[in-house]
Amino acid sequence: AGMNLCGEKMKLLLKNCNTLKGMKNILIKSNKIFYLGDDIPHFDKQIDISGMLVIPGLIDPHVHVRDLEQSYKEDWKSASEAALVGGVTTIFDMPNSIPATTNLKNLNLKRKVAEKSLVNRKFYLGATNDNLNELDEILQENPDDVAGIKMFLAASSSNEVVSNKNKVKEIFELAKKYNKIVAVHSELQSCLDEWNAKISEKSIQNHNKIRNRECAINGTELVLKLAKEVGNKIYICHVSTREEIELLKENKNAFCEITLHHLLKNEKILKKVGNFGKVNPPLRTEKDNLALLQAILDDVVDTIGTDHAPHTLAEKNQKYSKVPSGFPGVETALPLLLNEVNKGILSLEKIVELTSLNPSKIFGLKNRGKIEKGCFADLAVIDMNKKWKINASKFRSKAKYSPFDEMEIQGKVVMTFVNGKMFEN
Ligand code: DOR
Ligand code: ZN
Repeated sequence: AGMNLCGEKMKLLLKNCNTLKGMKNILIKSNKIFYLGDDIPHFDKQIDISGMLVIPGLIDPHVHVRDLEQSYKEDWKSASEAALVGGVTTIFDMPNSIPATTNLKNLNLKRKVAEKSLVNRKFYLGATNDNLNELDEILQENPDDVAGIKMFLAASSSNEVVSNKNKVKEIFELAKKYNKIVAVHSELQSCLDEWNAKISEKSIQNHNKIRNRECAINGTELVLKLAKEVGNKIYICHVSTREEIELLKENKNAFCEITLHHLLKNEKILKKVGNFGKVNPPLRTEKDNLALLQAILDDVVDTIGTDHAPHTLAEKNQKYSKVPSGFPGVETALPLLLNEVNKGILSLEKIVELTSLNPSKIFGLKNRGKIEKGCFADLAVIDMNKKWKINASKFRSKAKYSPFDEMEIQGKVVMTFVNGKMFEN
């Protein structure tokens, strides 16, 4: 449980924090950063951070919390505890829960059940073929806890599919009216259906053929074109192919998210992990891993989202056609990125940009995603030297599996602060 060292008037000093701006002292008061600098201001309590790295807590724009009717897979308590272990201080919850976040009644159910969250949260509204009036009514109120609108162009996990071009444009128009972003799962259902008919052998080894890259590429191309026509902002979730990266290079009103599993893993692991490796979009190829890495270095990628998509071991143990897609991710994302920093592949500045600064800018969060005076004290304290082994059976998430299970890495989150409240790992 978190320790509230920082009541209304309590001033908590974090001494000797190694920040991107150098060695600093951080004073937290009333949930916010009250002082950042070289001096030692007056404090009530202090913690010596001893030169460990301190970065903004992660803002994860892509999490499936599952609470309400699928709480056996994950709930707000387990999801947020997992987030804290991974240095994630804000999560945006996807709408394909049961019931789905597609109307005000269900949004209110979700708001209520999310009160037990230990981290900050926002919710996506799910767009369907017939709920735009309802979404309009919700957005009229200008709710601060709505991250944006999520639209699926294909079936993936108990979600509704929007398949008609005109409907997509109507959704874009609505989003534009309220200056909200539309997050898109851009695999195209009609294309998936064609490939599904073409590939007769249904097996995890063929997942990347059945949910063919062509369908992600075509879907991304289509929404880029339609968003250009409407002039609204879109956010392409979990970009997985080098061809989509090429499309995104030329486009300025679309943002690009990638996941750790599409960056670091490819279909080669399926021999070993079998159906546990089922995810949508599928794991692609080594060439795609390299293209995604290059896209990070070339500033084409805007954010890293986890697509934390928890299921139970029993569910993941079923045969290919039945096994649900997705992996838990909030506990491992930052450690995996720190490991890439330790290997010299990514810079610390870059991961901070992708995991906190950019999400806060893109989704218009106020006073989050930065370590600055006046910002909320959402922080991750990191031991860059710590070597350890990922152990999925010990996850706080209810989903005790991972494509990164047993990986030996360097870099660990030791403390997480959410609105000034401290959680020790
Ligand atoms: O693998 C996935 N799992 N992809 C999705 O698009 C949905 C997600 C889920 O909700 O399980
Ligand atoms: Zn997702």
